[in-house]
Amino acid sequence: MSLYDARVASAYKTGVSLLPWRRWAEPWTYHQVLGDIAGKDILDAACGVGVVSLMMADLGAGSVTGVDISSAMIDRAKLDSTAPVINYINCDFSDYQAASPHDIAVSSFIVNEAETVEQLGLFVRAFHRNLKVKGKLALVLDIPDRLQGVDHSSYGYRFSLPEGRMKDEDRFKLYIDVDKSLVELELSYFSYSTIRNILEENGFQEVAFTPLMVPEEAHRAMPSDYWDMMICRPGLFVVSAIKMSKSQL
Ligand SMILES: C[S@@+](CC[C@H](N)C(=O)[O-])C[C@H]1O[C@@H](n2cnc3c(N)ncnc32)[C@H](O)[C@@H]1O
Repeated sequence: MSLYDARVASAYKTGVSLLPWRRWAEPWTYHQVLGDIAGKDILDAACGVGVVSLMMADLGAGSVTGVDISSAMIDRAKLDSTAPVINYINCDFSDYQAASPHDIAVSSFIVNEAETVEQLGLFVRAFHRNLKVKGKLALVLDIPDRLQGVDHSSYGYRFSLPEGRMKDEDRFKLYIDVDKSLVELELSYFSYSTIRNILEENGFQEVAFTPLMVPEEAHRAMPSDYWDMMICRPGLFVVSAIKMSKSQL
């Protein structure tokens, strides 16, 4: 059975999606990185219960396609993360083939779901074939190296990291506390340079890494030092890139 079963889907919907960084920092950073997405056709890979698909709808997307391998996550998304512009599809993203390419592709955490560099390459190729030329890619991911001993539990999650310098494909654990029910995820680490190389080798350019940004509204809403650790010692980033035209390949 998939790790992402009905219990995790429910905890995700009722807890993880409501954490302050998901409410403010994540949509704000997507907005900063993507610019105006009004009317655009968006792909949300590994959409889970639809947190990011809903963010895209709220940012004005013309249409959103959420793709996820877990039927429990997709069922939950269809139940209560709906909006007229969103369509959910249950399939392995590596096999996804859109009827026509999307304007923009996003995903929160598909990178850390890949267990190997090879699988990460399959995901990157799926993004490439399903995007229009010059289409933008923006992926939120955990890059937790150098966070050994850093406490992010006030943000609703904490890491269990291997000792020493992390290397590609190292597994680490992410514990997310939601309403006293703990979601435990086992994820993979990939370095900045590996992610950059895979993107550039597979037809993307202008690769950039941006730590999650916190909007003014979020500073006003939370205690004055709440966001300090996330800003000073970030573990969550967006990697963005543009699909090259054939003449640039
Ligand atoms: C950590 S959750 C993130 C869900 C959602 N993007 C969010 O940010 O709330 C990771 C998701 O990746 C999905 N996933 C893992 N491997 C996948 C694959 N090969 N194709 C599509 N989805 C996949 C899981 O089913 C799960 O819903």
